[in-house]
Amino acid sequence: MLTLKEAEEKILKLREEIEKHNYQYYVLDNPLITDAEYDRLMQELLALEKEFPELVTPDSPTQRVGGQPLEGFKTHVHRTPLLSLSNAFGAEDLWDFHRRVLSTLGVDQVEYVVEPKIDGLSIALYYENGLLQIGATRGDGFTGEDVTQNLKTIGNVPLKLKENIPLLEVRGEAYMPKESFRRLNEEREAKGEVLFANPRNAAAGSIRQLDPKIAAQRDLRVMVYDIMYLEGKEIFRHSEALELLRQQGFSVIEPFISSSMQEIVDYCAKWAQKRHDLSFEIDGLVIKVNDLEKQKRLGYTSKSPRWAIAYKFPAEQGVTKLVDILVRVGRTGAVTPTAILEPVRLAGTTVSRATLHNEDFIRDRDIRIGDYVVVQKAGDIIPEVVEVIKEKRTGEEIVFHYPTHCPECGSRIVRLEGEAVARCTGISCPAQVREGIIHFASRNAMNIEGLGPAIVSLLLDNQLIRDAADLYYLQFADLVKLERMAEKSATNLLNAIEESKTRSLDRVIFALGIRLVGQRAAKILAQEFKTMANLEKATLEELTGINEIGPKMAESIVAFFKEEKNREFLARLKKAGVNMESVETSVLSNKLAGKTFVLTGTLENFTRKEAQEKIEALGGKVVGSVSKKTDYVVVGAEPGSKYEKAKELGITILNEEEFIALLDRRD
Ligand code: IVH
Repeated sequence: MLTLKEAEEKILKLREEIEKHNYQYYVLDNPLITDAEYDRLMQELLALEKEFPELVTPDSPTQRVGGQPLEGFKTHVHRTPLLSLSNAFGAEDLWDFHRRVLSTLGVDQVEYVVEPKIDGLSIALYYENGLLQIGATRGDGFTGEDVTQNLKTIGNVPLKLKENIPLLEVRGEAYMPKESFRRLNEEREAKGEVLFANPRNAAAGSIRQLDPKIAAQRDLRVMVYDIMYLEGKEIFRHSEALELLRQQGFSVIEPFISSSMQEIVDYCAKWAQKRHDLSFEIDGLVIKVNDLEKQKRLGYTSKSPRWAIAYKFPAEQGVTKLVDILVRVGRTGAVTPTAILEPVRLAGTTVSRATLHNEDFIRDRDIRIGDYVVVQKAGDIIPEVVEVIKEKRTGEEIVFHYPTHCPECGSRIVRLEGEAVARCTGISCPAQVREGIIHFASRNAMNIEGLGPAIVSLLLDNQLIRDAADLYYLQFADLVKLERMAEKSATNLLNAIEESKTRSLDRVIFALGIRLVGQRAAKILAQEFKTMANLEKATLEELTGINEIGPKMAESIVAFFKEEKNREFLARLKKAGVNMESVETSVLSNKLAGKTFVLTGTLENFTRKEAQEKIEALGGKVVGSVSKKTDYVVVGAEPGSKYEKAKELGITILNEEEFIALLDRRD
């Protein structure tokens, strides 16, 4: 038993250690330990704090996990109003801004700081004596909502500054990285939930949740870009503010400093292209006068500062005609509407379909067939219809009536109270069956190469399969009889199906398409139950006893395995030789533990994702950028600048062959 004093010392040490690793992971993108090791430290701290509750403080990393749900948000009155920026839509606007700045100041040169304009949710953070007190949304600029609980869950928001600064108000942007957004939507799709339209909506939706556990599960980040109020230190330039924030432990925007407007104009043009390489969305650049005293002299209009301007990238929106609305029935029976468009060029691709999300979306915007609509595409996001151009209506447009019956099986479509999604109620709806098989074969599930929607339909239409288990009983002779299937493609398909038998248990579980069970839940279930047979027998109590498996998901799992048809389906998978047990790769070997990898260029034998999985299975970690702390850089064909950086820093460089040798090495 520890004394209070001993416990306190230990707790302080653990907190410091954990926050250091948080900083390494979230701010420097350079983790020094594995997730498992990090979890162990956290568990140890949680256990100590449970034993000594009097030692829990608001700045403890345990307070990041999210406390009790709130009834509603308190409003928060900002000490300094959060204004917005005036916009520049091209070089001309930038030159105008520059001329105004010079003439107001009566100078012929001025230094600017140029920063990416992050497309997220504007927030303010208040620190007193170095401790985070309040985090609030912008709101109307004068009053926002107190979302401290949710912002605390974000890994790169310091709960405690490096120095004991009496008062610091910081302004920044909360956002969701593109990759995390993609994964979140993938999981939501698997669960039949409504998708977020873009990372900004996903971030805003997460931060405005009353239950902080939800924000804690979402991969959110905060990047800060301004000090609004500071006591106890003096700074003279905006760039010094950024530096100070960096020193205090924040993730800070990367600035570009220049006194040449021509150089800044060129920089903006360059970023309109380069923006897509960033891991998060930006919608422009912000140009700020660096000297704070000059900022003060320039002052503010009622809405925005005169010392800064936002350069907005050319809009990736276009206008086109909506020629039809199709509804698609998904694997879970969810009926979703898609707009069929006259093709239009957007963000470098041709768009001929866009999502209409759901029934309410169409009704609220009064979208009709034949309407001219504004379509938007941002980065890798699904194109969406933003609004109707009502002035262009001729009166010929047709109001769309949401179908009451499934277009594929004729069963009734119902929409449950409080749900945005309508579903087909047909038990053997061919669309659901088809989508279920497509899901089974998809990349994150059984990853059967070559078995996309077209081939699945072909096999179903020719009655070679009725469900996914039938895939494993396909015969070469039957396949080659099909009109669109040459010998070579039949062989390839059978090989790919055969190969999929060895997929890990979590993939097999995910492939089953049990409602609410996404990739993450499938991983947890595989870890907990080790075999499909154990999972089949799992009771509600056992399932809900697992962290992260809620009662709804538990019920759905039990219901799935109770169904005779599903059990028979599993028996056929098993008989075919599909893997039903988990192989504990992490126990087999941990030889890459603590090693950090960066991947660049195209590998021949793996996709990026596969290479990452291999590394992680052996305890290693893959990060996005090369630094001194990187252990290995794996270089494929046509590597990027990371290769140059690795050479510069003298990091061990592996070609594909050497990388495979490292993976296979026994030690
Ligand atoms: S400076 C006085 N810098 O863009 C205004 N804003 O309308 C100071 N934003 O609501 C804002 N990145 O949330 C600034 N590097 C950046 C930014 C940035 C994103 C957002 C901010 C604001 C909006 C401007």
